[in-house]
Order: sequence, then structure tokens, then C-alpha cells
Amino acid sequence: MLLLAESDPSMNIDPNQIVFFDTTLRDGEQSPGCTMHHDEKLRMAHKLAELGVDVLEAGFAIASQGDLDSIRAIAKAVRGPRITSLARCKREDIEAAARAVEPAPSNRIHVFLASSDLHLEAKLRITRAQALEQAAESVRLARSFVDNVEFSAEDATRSDFAFMVQLVTVAVQAGATTINLPDTVGYTTPDEYKSLFQRIRAEVPGSENIIWSTHCHNDLGMAVANSLAGVEGGARQIECTINGIGERAGNAALEEIAAALATRRDKFPYTNNIVLSQLYPTSQMLGEIISFGAAPNKAIVGANAFAHESGIHQHGVLANPLTYEIMTPESVGVPANNMVLGKHSGRRMLEQRLTELGHPLTRDELDIVYHRFTELADRKKSIYDQDLIGLLSEKVTTAVTH
Ligand code: KIV
Ligand code: ZN
Repeated sequence: MLLLAESDPSMNIDPNQIVFFDTTLRDGEQSPGCTMHHDEKLRMAHKLAELGVDVLEAGFAIASQGDLDSIRAIAKAVRGPRITSLARCKREDIEAAARAVEPAPSNRIHVFLASSDLHLEAKLRITRAQALEQAAESVRLARSFVDNVEFSAEDATRSDFAFMVQLVTVAVQAGATTINLPDTVGYTTPDEYKSLFQRIRAEVPGSENIIWSTHCHNDLGMAVANSLAGVEGGARQIECTINGIGERAGNAALEEIAAALATRRDKFPYTNNIVLSQLYPTSQMLGEIISFGAAPNKAIVGANAFAHESGIHQHGVLANPLTYEIMTPESVGVPANNMVLGKHSGRRMLEQRLTELGHPLTRDELDIVYHRFTELADRKKSIYDQDLIGLLSEKVTTAVTH
């Protein structure tokens, strides 16, 4: 059980506050099928501000002039979140990021460099010593443009621990204010990730003045669990995306983390700025923009997340929603509890739906219509209101002929 930490007035970090860093427009957008145009990014950025994200990674300025222009437009127009751009540890990247975020009243440059030997040797072809130098120089350069700099040790979860401590230490000494330990390839497990934060916080001088951040990919389906474990290990920023979009299997899903923090406050006694009722509308907007929405069984925002078809579940939810729902659909912005009529549905649900449609039935009438309903449901996957009305007309005919 976590205890609420005392706020330390000498730190500008509130240990009880979780910072939501949304990277839908950067890590999310760089995944197949998720490309967004300038106006779409701007629209989405306004929505993310309404959702209450604290940091909005609007793109990767060096990637293209279009990306730089979109970040700059967001930095000019969107108020609320701190606007950031990603940058490699290269002068031209950092200068482009600085130009892009410059109009925002509150901004950040997010620099990253790999910390694993695999990435240093195979991808960057630099030594550990060169990595230490590049990281320090880049953070210093970024700090010459903005006060708020994040350093990410890419592939942190597959890095040599002692070297990562060195790398992060030079980044902190050079002025980084947030340190992110990404699980770039979705490889870690919750207990490992929690202990990574605990161990590194104990080793890096001045770590209490740093916001430690999670960034989890979902290759093994553990991105959300790992992010929450990171919080248990002392991380206070979570990087995530709407609908969990992102490289390969995606990033940790913002809506799942926000709902988990709200539903399990007993385990996570922290505050955050997310407006829960905006989760579903934001997810819907993203789905509409990128032309594919969340899978039906996706937690929180999927079409079936609050849908009940089986008779036993429908009966329970009608009697008391808590029987099969751990949060209300309305609390996360889902319009209404979605009772789906199909072959698993019971008489009570049928009766309720018909009453809602303005056709209350007697007990005998319900027997007849329910029998027809089950026959139809054997042939048809979902039963819509017009199908029910069809069953009713048969009922009237039957009543007349008898
Ligand atoms: O997955 C990752 O390592 C990243 C970094 C650039 C933060 O997206
Ligand atoms: Zn990533």
C-alpha cells in the first residue's frame, strides 16, 4: 500500500500528482495508418487540452517541415498543456524543436538517446563515452532554449544498469528536469519496471528534484500494467496515447491508465488533471480522424466495454449496475449503458426494451414474443429495435386470429 508523501515546498514537484504526458500526435501518429494532417492534429490537440493532459507531445519537429509547422501551430493556439517536441541528441533536431515550441507559454524540449549497448553499437555506432558526451551537450543546448527539458534513455529496460545511472546522471547535471525510462520494445514486466525506478532513484544524485517518467510499449500486452508499476516505483509522469495507438503494438492507453487510477484510488492515492468524462469523446474523435477506432473489446472506450448481452448479466446490471460494472459508463463519457439484444439475452431485458419503445406487454404476450425473439436470435447475431417491432406486429396478428 502506498502512502501519500509529504509535499516538500523546496521542490517544484508534487509527489502526490501524476503528470499525464500525451504522445498521440508523436509516437501514436508515427504508427501505420495513424498519420494525421495539420488541421486534424490541431483539432486533436484542442481536444487533448480539454481532456486535461499536462504535457502534449505535438510531434517530432525535425521529421518534416509539416511536422514542425503543426507543432508550432499547436504551440500558438492550444492553451493548457505544456507543448513539447521530440528531438534526437543532435544540434539540428534541438534547434528545430526549439523553433517549433517557441510560441507556447509553457513548453519543453524532449531529447532522447539510446542507453542500451545494442542500440549504441548497432544503430548509433557510438561508444558509451560518446553517448555520455552527446547527452550532456544536448541537454545543455536544449536548456539554452527552454527551462523545461526531458531526457529519455531509449531502450532503458534492456540497458546495463550502471551505465544508465551514469547517462541519466550527466543528463540531470546538464539540466534535465524530467527523466524518462522507456520500455521501447515492450519487454519489461511490472515488478522489473517498478524496481528499475526504485533502484535508479536511489542512485542518481538529486533524483528527488526530478520527475521520473514511464513510457511503455505494448508488445507483450503489459504497457498499462507496467506504467502503473512504474508509478509504484516512484515515477510521477506517465507517457501514453489515446486508444493506445503507437509503434507496433502501441503505447500504454491513456484512457485505461486514467480509469485505473480513478477506480483504484485505494492503490494509487494520487491526483491528476484528466477530465474522465472526456475519455470517450476524445477516443471517438481520434477514431474518426485516423479512420479506425478502438477494438470493440477495448477497455473503457470499446463499443462493448459497457455492453451486456447475456441474460444473467443484463438482469444483474438492471438490478444494480455494480454487479457487473466497476465504473459507470457516464463517468468516462460513454453516453449510456449499452444493453445488446442477442441470443444470450433474457426476458427481462426484452421486456424493458419493449417498454422503452412504448410497448409494455402482459405476461402472456411477453411469453409469445420472447419465444419468437429466441428463434430470431438463433438466426441473427444482433437484434435491433426494428426487429422487435416486427415481432410485435406478429403478436398483434396472432392476437387477432385467436
Ligand atoms: O519508445 C521510445 O523509446 C520512444 C522514445 C523516443 C521516448 O518513443
Ligand atoms: Zn515510444
